[in-house]
Amino acid sequence: MSAVKSDIQAFWKALYDSLYEDVDRGLTREALLGSIDDLEDMFRLRRHLAVVEMPLAELAGKKVLEIGPGAGGHSALFARHGAEMTAVDLTLARARATEAKFRLMEAESCHALQGDAEGLPFADGTFDIVYSNGVLHHTADTERAIAEVHRVLKPGGRAVILLYCKSSWHYWINMFLPIGLAQGKAFGDRDWLGKATEWGGRNKQTVANPITRCYTRAGIERLFAAFDGLTARKGEFYWYLVPKLGRLYRKYQIKKYGTHPGGVLVYGEPWPMQSPLEKTLGEWMGFAWFISARKPGDGR
Ligand SMILES: C[S@@+](CC[C@H](N)C(=O)[O-])C[C@H]1O[C@@H](n2cnc3c(N)ncnc32)[C@H](O)[C@@H]1O
Repeated sequence: MSAVKSDIQAFWKALYDSLYEDVDRGLTREALLGSIDDLEDMFRLRRHLAVVEMPLAELAGKKVLEIGPGAGGHSALFARHGAEMTAVDLTLARARATEAKFRLMEAESCHALQGDAEGLPFADGTFDIVYSNGVLHHTADTERAIAEVHRVLKPGGRAVILLYCKSSWHYWINMFLPIGLAQGKAFGDRDWLGKATEWGGRNKQTVANPITRCYTRAGIERLFAAFDGLTARKGEFYWYLVPKLGRLYRKYQIKKYGTHPGGVLVYGEPWPMQSPLEKTLGEWMGFAWFISARKPGDGR
């Protein structure tokens, strides 16, 4: 494995160890099923990719691949809706955590394995849907990973993917201005954005995030040029990500709007409810592109 892939693995292992370690310990089937319902409810409130672009009502019997399941919550949600899930994560512990959730759910046709988005271990035209939430902008060669998504989809199959958005408040105001420009990190360090993003662990950060990329709409159109029917909408604006003041705001936000238990399954803790202003700002200048695109052809 290349050095950069080892660094990527080491970062995600450290982050999940810090954030998530306790959540799966002693997890029962009943608790997991309850958490999946909570997660779906939270996603509906946030108009997340996993419930808007993902056709939950049509998943039964569909062959679905998730790339980079992390905690395995999204895969478990799709399995709950009857999808035949395959989940592939570069980090072995993450693949194992996802597999453990499938086994608890007794989802016989669902499996998780360790693997790389840039060289998926599947034949051409295997899946009806390939889903990936917040992963492919962290890999060494995003173009190659998207080409792999295209390859393993059946003709007519759908890619449902979240990538970070460059035309966003978070990129320009929270990261580029204070870190990229004021601290000069954007000059001379190709991977400054990786170092500026992601750590949500409870412990002090010891491992840097090797790679993060953000895309403009034109960049998304280039990445998905081989697909038909591309849609990309923005979402996910968080005041709490504002440097320094953010933590203070988070306390206020939790007091005013409360938290949602749906966060536990993917983030390791209840997740602050979005304020109405955050929801609206997300549509204009959010940090996520919620992407849907179809592989040409009609093989389904
Ligand atoms: C930000 S986490 C996202 C987890 C999950 N999708 C979610 O939304 O909660 C990124 C995940 O992608 C995995 N990952 C990073 N690069 C990858 C690659 N090249 N192939 C497969 N998985 C990868 C990491 O190990 C980690 O579990």
